Amino acid sequence: MKDVFILGIESSCDETAAAVVKNGREVLSNIISSQIDIHTIYGGVVPEIASRLHIQNINGVIRLALKEAGKTFDDIDAIAVTYGPGLVGALLAGVSEAKALAYALNKPLVGVHHIEGHVAANFIAHPKLKPPFVCLIVSGGHTHLVVVKDYGSFEIIGKTGDDAAGEAFDKVARAVGLGYPGGPKVDKLAREGNPHAIEFPRGEIKGAPYDFTFSGLKSAVLNYINHANMTGEEINKADLCASFQNAVVESLVERTVACAKEYKYDTVAMAGGVSANSALRKAMEEACTSAGLSCCYPDIILCTDNAAMIASAGYYEFINGNIADEYLNAVPNLKLGER
Ligand code: KG4
Ligand code: ZN
Repeated sequence: MKDVFILGIESSCDETAAAVVKNGREVLSNIISSQIDIHTIYGGVVPEIASRLHIQNINGVIRLALKEAGKTFDDIDAIAVTYGPGLVGALLAGVSEAKALAYALNKPLVGVHHIEGHVAANFIAHPKLKPPFVCLIVSGGHTHLVVVKDYGSFEIIGKTGDDAAGEAFDKVARAVGLGYPGGPKVDKLAREGNPHAIEFPRGEIKGAPYDFTFSGLKSAVLNYINHANMTGEEINKADLCASFQNAVVESLVERTVACAKEYKYDTVAMAGGVSANSALRKAMEEACTSAGLSCCYPDIILCTDNAAMIASAGYYEFINGNIADEYLNAVPNLKLGER
């Protein structure tokens, strides 16, 4: 069979990214232009600035992705682009670019769901991994426990009723004064702290054993900080981060392993920015080993936003004939499993 080369484009938040992936699994290039330094000044992503920087950088990023892959546009079989969910202006930059390229080059265009991309990062990291398997999706905007039934086909088993896991990390980081982006900073500081120092609540949603809730935990952390500020007690930030992180990790790992056992799948995967968390990776690995499950997750660079994962997901959409037309538009609140 002829090799298939997909050019992936990702611009849903604050990374302008392009990648070339062969047959959905082999990364030939993965270029990420991060805007973090600029958004850090404002303490979070400023949508307007993100859109402008995508527009400014996207052509250069694509050119570099082709160059590093040793390919030209002629070698590309299809152009895959994230069309949702995400910031509308940021998504439009990538979608418009992809549409223009597809039109000018007369190549097929594939619209990719950003979260489907995160899941596909596992196909790159684990070339033998095939559906079905259980996947914990934990990003800045999503916390979903799903069964990946087939490429691009998901059954949602559980989801968050309030904050996403990444959002909780970011909010706690801000409250502790660590700034943006919060998750990696909490992860780093937590390594110096005691995860059992402070007993924070593990939220549950009655009647929905696989759903998550982090708002109670977040409030408990904020109350703890306020109380300490009022009484003049000094906060051990490392202990606080470790204890908060431990509460999040426990609730994620517990439900994921229980889901794999109940639904009888022998493989657990993780996807999304929070799956870069060192404590989560370790705890999930240990829990899977003792439950006799295999555990996989992508390299850190493939956990957070990138275009290789979009090209991989795009490959499976492409070979299934899911080609977008010239009316493809950004869908900022695109739900998982929707087209
Ligand atoms: O998947 P992602 O890069 O973007 C979205 O699609 O949302 O996820 C970003 C989220 C942020 O909330 C960030 O704080 C979190 O992932 N994150 C982490 C770590 N690295 C990134 N959270 C905890 N530990 C980390 N090491
Ligand atoms: Zn993402």
